[in-house]
Amino acid sequence: MNPTVQQVDAQGRLRHFLTLEGLKRQMLIDILDTAESFSGVTEQTVKKVPLLRGKTIVNLFFEASTRTRTTFELAAKRLSADVLNMNINASSTSKGETLLDTLRNLEAMHVDMFVVRHAESGAAHFIAQHVAPHISVINGGDGRHAHPTQGMLDMFTIRRAKGPDFGRLRVAIVGDILHSRVARSQIHALNILNTGEVRVVGPRTLIPMDVADLGVRVFHNIEEGIRDVDVIMMLRLQRERMQGALLPSEHEYFRLFGLTQKRLALAQPDVIVMHPGPINRGVEMDSQVVDGPHSVILEQVTHGIAVRMAVMSMVMSQKAQTTQAAQLDQTPGADA
Ligand code: CP
Repeated sequence: MNPTVQQVDAQGRLRHFLTLEGLKRQMLIDILDTAESFSGVTEQTVKKVPLLRGKTIVNLFFEASTRTRTTFELAAKRLSADVLNMNINASSTSKGETLLDTLRNLEAMHVDMFVVRHAESGAAHFIAQHVAPHISVINGGDGRHAHPTQGMLDMFTIRRAKGPDFGRLRVAIVGDILHSRVARSQIHALNILNTGEVRVVGPRTLIPMDVADLGVRVFHNIEEGIRDVDVIMMLRLQRERMQGALLPSEHEYFRLFGLTQKRLALAQPDVIVMHPGPINRGVEMDSQVVDGPHSVILEQVTHGIAVRMAVMSMVMSQKAQTTQAAQLDQTPGADA
């Protein structure tokens, strides 16, 4: 991460949320516990709490999204914030306005937070570096770098299904690790939570050369890679980020690495199957597995709301406490 962007302040509170890399275990536990407390809001008749009343959150999505954009919007609304969804294709960036000029104009509208998705790795950090001091930035996925709220909602889903002791779990991440920001955030989160064993499984062309440096075991055979695991996290083939022919064909990929019911039987009997979406049925997974009893894919989507409420409220509470401290400092006689 760019050293000039501090996502955690001197008191250890979240200022921005850009990557899971480097965060402390207790921070991840705090996010999961806060999300747990928010998950009940979704089941209430009035699905709202007043925590972010009067705050304005801008969804700045420069790349396509279904789940992340909508669950951030729902999460912000359930916290009673005002939400602005920027339609980037219809904005003045299409007339040549620079990203920084767009940001300056939004800042002039006194907004409080940007949720950013961008095809370029590092875009959320860049924006965090350049925004006014009162604005927080949450990374909604940047290039192949990071997707930290996805990583956290995946941890929430695992904790719900398997309990809080990650040390007894074997987890396999299967597919296009090379181009996946989700895989990077999952690996960081699983390591921070002291997961017993983290495996990555995929063809040599789709696994980074240095991935073992992250403390994971590498498998190029799916039958070996998912044997006896408690959790299987499938990934989408990121065609839009592939340069050159990294795969013979999708049919061949499914034959070698697709998750079928027969292969699933090699894992633990109570294995859970996850996928961040969007799914390519018949490419990464057989439809019978997607819709089968081990799948928690739609639970992941539901949990995304509570986890995003948790992250947004924690970032905003840091700002509230910092502002209060600054006001106290300026009170005459405050240091008497
Ligand atoms: N998981 C995820 O990021 O999905 P979207 O691209 O639909 O937001």
